[in-house]
Amino acid sequence: MINYQQIVLEAVEISKSYPSKSGSGMLEVLNEVDLKVHNSEIAAIIGSSGSGKSTLLHLLGGLDHPDTGEVYWEQKPIFKWKQDKLAEERNRQVGFVFQFHHLLPEFTAIENVYLPGLISGKPLKEAEQRAASLLEKLGMSDRTEHRPSQLSGGEQQRVAIARALMNNPSIILADEPTGNLDEKNTDIILNQLIELRETEQVAMVLITHEKEIASRCDTIYELKQGKLHRFEETH
Ligand SMILES: Nc1ncnc2c1ncn2[C@@H]1O[C@H](COP(=O)(O)OP(=O)(O)OP(=O)(O)O)[C@@H](O)[C@H]1O
Ligand SMILES: [Mg+2]
Repeated sequence: MINYQQIVLEAVEISKSYPSKSGSGMLEVLNEVDLKVHNSEIAAIIGSSGSGKSTLLHLLGGLDHPDTGEVYWEQKPIFKWKQDKLAEERNRQVGFVFQFHHLLPEFTAIENVYLPGLISGKPLKEAEQRAASLLEKLGMSDRTEHRPSQLSGGEQQRVAIARALMNNPSIILADEPTGNLDEKNTDIILNQLIELRETEQVAMVLITHEKEIASRCDTIYELKQGKLHRFEETH
């Protein structure tokens, strides 16, 4: 039974500034941003280039620290953890998908998928089975032994999604996951993500610049001048 009310990811008043390009002051990218993502929810974040979308995603995933504020994964404050504990929890709870897949070129599709499982201590057989079932759900059963260079862009991205799901994360953080793909592949992947959030019970934060993609998500936020605005209810 999916509990849609459970908050799996929360950001509370996170702020982030960088030294400005001229070097004379600070560029305020995020100004006390709040966000709540519920179990199995897909939240889209849109915003112009340079508005701070990737910065926000990195903070939500604990890849970088905010100047102030806190991020919670399943109600636990992540920046209270030491670096190695944070890395361990991240490997278990969060899956990342980027615009460019970052697959390891010397490994096959299935090896790329199960590696995070081995790193988190799963036995090889169990990891292989989980990886095979994820690749099957993504329509990639006949591509498991191919290396990334032997796969199309859309197929590579589906391997990256399977890899992100390997450790049963509660949340997927995706930065322009279809930014590099044509319309057909974008549609396939979006349909698969929407299905996977039910079958895998995983929430997603999806950064996109495409309004058509955002409109298929449960909630849409726009990042503008350091603030996150709830855009509209889609259904
Ligand atoms: N490590 C950094 N040091 C200094 N400035 C940075 C750093 N990272 C990002 N910035 C600046 O912060 C702002 C937000 O960058 P960010 O990458 O989050 O934007 P974005 O919304 O993801 O843009 P895009 O749509 O082009 O990917 C930009 O002005 C960028 O130059
Ligand atoms: Mg970006």
